[in-house]
Amino acid sequence: MIAALKAAHIIALCIWCAGLILLPILLHIYGRRPEMRSQAGFTEFRWLTHYSYIAVITPAAVIAVSVGTVLIFALEVLSAWMLAKLIAVAGMVLLHAWMGHLIVQAGEGRGDFPLPMAGLSLLALVPLIGLVLWLVLAKPSLEELIALLPSILQEPRGNPIPARLNPL
Ligand code: HEM
Repeated sequence: MIAALKAAHIIALCIWCAGLILLPILLHIYGRRPEMRSQAGFTEFRWLTHYSYIAVITPAAVIAVSVGTVLIFALEVLSAWMLAKLIAVAGMVLLHAWMGHLIVQAGEGRGDFPLPMAGLSLLALVPLIGLVLWLVLAKPSLEELIALLPSILQEPRGNPIPARLNPL
């Protein structure tokens, strides 16, 4: 069962990561060609970006995150590296949302929307994917990093819970 979940997780995240690399290239290079000014070029661009985003890349992201969440509970992985991985994955989700925003803007702008330099997102995306892979494969203890956190984040404060939350 765990092997099947891991296989589904890895297949989905391969599609998601490949899509997140493909989309900025499509938006940056394809979306800036002179052909975008013709109906045929614009339709092709819209079709490629819209359907790859809604029918392939976003479902793959949802499956990768959902199955990963099931794996957390199934394997009881609550280590520091997993929390660090989730923070890095949040960065990937933000880039995913930005790509969706650009695709909508490009479509509603009907060819007049000046596409920003979407390819620059690869400068953040590729290190994020590398970081996630390193965290999950090396499973570092991260003790030195945790020691750098302020003490307020490292130990319980010992404060009583508010009376209104006390079941007694
Ligand atoms: C919210 C999103 C995610 C969650 C909750 C999640 C959670 C998990 C969990 C619990 C495992 C099992 C770890 C273990 O065997 O100890 C796992 C495995 C794995 N995850 Fe994720 N993951 C997420 C996203 C990602 C992403 C975006 C990547 C890659 C870029 C990734 C790469 C991997 C790999 C390669 C494994 C297999 C590791 C192994 O079997 O040793 N995960 N994930």
